[in-house]
Amino acid sequence: MKLRSVYLENFRSYEKLNIEIKNFKYVILTGKNGIGKTNILEAISFLSPGKGFRNSRLDEVINNNSNSNQSSIFFIIEKENQKNEIGVGFTKENVDNKFQGRKIIHLNGKKLKRQSDLPNLVSLIWLTPEMDIFFRTNSLFRRKFVDRCIFNLKPEYLDNLKIYEKNLNERNKILKDISTKNLCYIEGKNVEKDLWLKKIEEKLVNEGIKILEERIKFSNDFNSISNNSKSFPKINISLVGDIENLLLTEKLDSVKGMYIQKLQSSRRIDSIKGSISCGPNKSDLKVVFLKKKLLAEKCSTGEQKIILISLIIQFCKLMNNKGNFPILLLDEIVAHLDSKIKATLFEELQTLKNQVWMSGSDKNLFSDIINQKEVVNLEIEDLLKQ
Ligand SMILES: Nc1ncnc2c1ncn2[C@@H]1O[C@H](COP(=O)(O)OP(=O)(O)OP(=O)(O)O)[C@@H](O)[C@H]1O
Ligand SMILES: [Mg+2]
Repeated sequence: MKLRSVYLENFRSYEKLNIEIKNFKYVILTGKNGIGKTNILEAISFLSPGKGFRNSRLDEVINNNSNSNQSSIFFIIEKENQKNEIGVGFTKENVDNKFQGRKIIHLNGKKLKRQSDLPNLVSLIWLTPEMDIFFRTNSLFRRKFVDRCIFNLKPEYLDNLKIYEKNLNERNKILKDISTKNLCYIEGKNVEKDLWLKKIEEKLVNEGIKILEERIKFSNDFNSISNNSKSFPKINISLVGDIENLLLTEKLDSVKGMYIQKLQSSRRIDSIKGSISCGPNKSDLKVVFLKKKLLAEKCSTGEQKIILISLIIQFCKLMNNKGNFPILLLDEIVAHLDSKIKATLFEELQTLKNQVWMSGSDKNLFSDIINQKEVVNLEIEDLLKQ
């Protein structure tokens, strides 16, 4: 899968920008700080469902200097000799006196109904400086990463997540409704709502187990890809949580029973906290640096960065094995690597068939590869003069 052209209109700092990529494997974006390198990579990241790799408000991406309420991006993507044109539009709308953004996707001129169809058309893996906190921040960040990996491999997974989220919101709402009158949930105070809660919790358990089983399968598949690189650390991942532990040791029927029980018995505390005490929203990704038998979170900052790159490369290999060949977006990653690790990263990338977009302030950072014929270096300042 390769991007052949990217056209931006009113997107972030760009009024208009057109990039044509011939048959290049590496696209290297260079230019001074603030010139707009990350903006281009972010634009590409909108080919994934959701709000791009900056997790932006959708109306924020519209160029501030224009009077327009719209912004658009057009991509030509080549996949197995087939070319598709994908348009991503952003609009700023006034809803109940509040501005909000909307993302609209077109495939070959026709509106795409569901964003969950996007991973069938294009898959992406990104690594950005914001992800440096990966092992030091809260578990939500890591869960989102894992979920994005899974829906890239299996787009229907996005529907499981949505159904789960919808039922979770419903449960929170019922618990909140009951609590406002009684301060916190008390069983039997509202028999009708208790029955409704039971139904919702059954749905949560069914959908929750599907999600957890997918995550466990993902970690097993991930670990079975051996990382042959000499300098990149070998890693092992696992998803940990109450229900995952049960799934590993108990029969499915008993897990369902115990999971339902846990939800019922946590209604009171959940009504106070306004959240859920167990299930997919509580699991965490643990990564072990095998050589040192150490959890990634206990490793040094530099080691964590390299472990993160390993995680990305290994996931890319998993995707490649499934015949998917995602596009890699590596924003500003080479600047902080020592020369040996950087050389290993380039060696690794060379063994992969994927198209790789990289950015950096100076083209000397890429001197190991920049003169190869499959590399195109786009100096943003030059592009802006066009
Ligand atoms: N909606 C917008 N309208 C106009 N300009 C914007 C908008 N959003 C961001 N910008 C501008 O885009 C610029 C940042 O671009 P970007 O993050 O792509 O730079 P960069 O080349 O990656 O820089 P660095 O090397 O520091 O990472 C900033 O000057 C910012 O003000
Ligand atoms: Mg940047």
